Amino acid sequence: MITLLRLGHRLGRDSRVTTHCGLVARAFGAGRIILSGDYDKKIVDSLKGVSEQWGGDFEVEYDKQWMKIIKRFKDEGAVVVHLTMYGMNLPDKIDEIRKTCKGKDMLVIVGSQKVPGEVYHLSNYNIAVGNTPHSEISALAIFLDRFFEGKQLDKKQENGKISIIPQERGKKTVEE
Ligand SMILES: C[S@@+](CC[C@H](N)C(=O)[O-])C[C@H]1O[C@@H](n2cnc3c(N)ncnc32)[C@H](O)[C@@H]1O
Repeated sequence: MITLLRLGHRLGRDSRVTTHCGLVARAFGAGRIILSGDYDKKIVDSLKGVSEQWGGDFEVEYDKQWMKIIKRFKDEGAVVVHLTMYGMNLPDKIDEIRKTCKGKDMLVIVGSQKVPGEVYHLSNYNIAVGNTPHSEISALAIFLDRFFEGKQLDKKQENGKISIIPQERGKKTVEE
C-alpha cells in the first residue's frame, strides 16, 4: 500500500492544498494519508467524507510525530520517497523505484513550508518532478501516475454511495 505523509500542515493557509493532496492520493492509487503539522479536523472529516460518498478504502490519520512515522515505515520495510525539487529527477529514477517497491509498501512524503533536513537523510529516495519549484499537488499526481503507468485510472472505487456513468456531455450519476 502507498501512504502519503503530508508534512508541516498549517491551519488556514494550507487547507485547500492539503485537502487536494489527500484527494489526489486517493484518486491516484494511494491507500492512506497521514497528516502532520497542525491538527485540522475539517480536513480529516472532509477527506473521510469523500471516501464514504465516492468509495475506496482510503484511510485518513493525523500524527504530529513525523520522524517517528518515517522511522516506523522504514523499520517495517517500506520504501520512503520524498518529493522535492532538489532531488534526482523522476524520469531517471522511476523504473528503479518501481522495481525496489515490488511487494513492499511505500511512504511518499510531501512538504509545505521548509522541509527539515532529516527528511532528506531518512528517505530512500529524494525525487524531483523536474528540478524547479511548483506544487506538492502536481508533484504527487505526476509521481503516482508515472509509478502506476496510468493504470490507476482504470480502477473503480468500490463501496461508495454514488458513482459516475461517464457521458460525452452532461452529468449522470447512480446511487449504489
Ligand atoms: C511549495 S513547495 C515548498 C518547498 C520548500 N521551499 C522546501 O524547502 O522544500 C512544497 C512541496 O511541494 C513539493 N514540490 C514542489 N516542487 C517540486 C518538484 N519540482 N519536485 C518534487 N516535489 C516538489 C515538495 O514536496 C515540497 O515540499
